[in-house]
Amino acid sequence: MQGVPQPAYYIFKCQQSAPPGMPKPSCVSQNDPESQQLFQHLAQSLMMKGIIGTVQPIQTGCLNRCQQGPVMLVEPGHTMYVNLTKEKIDRIIEEHIIGGNVVQEYVIPEEMWGEPIAPSAMMS
Ligand code: FES
Repeated sequence: MQGVPQPAYYIFKCQQSAPPGMPKPSCVSQNDPESQQLFQHLAQSLMMKGIIGTVQPIQTGCLNRCQQGPVMLVEPGHTMYVNLTKEKIDRIIEEHIIGGNVVQEYVIPEEMWGEPIAPSAMMS
């Protein structure tokens, strides 16, 4: 018997917005209407393609790459996409999520996304 299939991808979209007057950059900005629409655009696009059952969009808090925002993380693969727009999200869905090829030009620069430190190594 087949079980309920797990999702092929999770897409974590940072939905953090800084309080008004806060100088710190954030992925959702009061002064940038497009930044407020990106999650909905992502979810709607997945729905319209008929793949929302296997690609799960998730709203998350700060992912600690605020300077590069708006950002979203695609798992599996640990792929961090930065400076997002609706057009970039459309291309990521087509080429990465459906096509299986990471859109390198939208990925965070390497110097901002070094190899992870194992938690066990961090404790020693
Ligand atoms: S506010 Fe989005 S990464 Fe920090």
